Amino acid sequence: MALREIKHYKKDACLRKKSKVVEKFDDKLKLIIEDMIDTMYQADGVGLAAPQIGILRRIIVMDVGEGPVVLINPEFTRQTGEEEDSEGCLSVPGLRGMVKRPVDVEVKGKNSKGEEIMLNGKGLLARAFCHEIDHLDGVLFIDKVVPGTLEG
Ligand code: CO
Repeated sequence: MALREIKHYKKDACLRKKSKVVEKFDDKLKLIIEDMIDTMYQADGVGLAAPQIGILRRIIVMDVGEGPVVLINPEFTRQTGEEEDSEGCLSVPGLRGMVKRPVDVEVKGKNSKGEEIMLNGKGLLARAFCHEIDHLDGVLFIDKVVPGTLEG
């Protein structure tokens, strides 16, 4: 188990950069994924994107209480509904705010072996997908927060 330092929105410019597509599905990628999952659990988070540990690659991990989910090069194939709920971020410690997100999403991407996969997320998992995929484009939840709802 290897924990990585979680980058902070006020100190680390990497959180505002666009991540690159993963092309090599090798042992190095598997190690990054393992470290991301360990770091997410240690920090008691429900999701983590690679730029949050300073790696500008399109990798996300999540666990909303149903076991770890890993997705590489994720792309939305469907987003339906809209729901406002409270959100926070490990890179924005101490702050929470309301964000509108779709209630049901379908996302395609690759697993750690490079195989095409399609995943479905509802409710909290849909929210986690949206939040983590935003990280891959340098977007933070504070950019989308409903005005006047940011607290901390
Ligand atoms: Co976040």
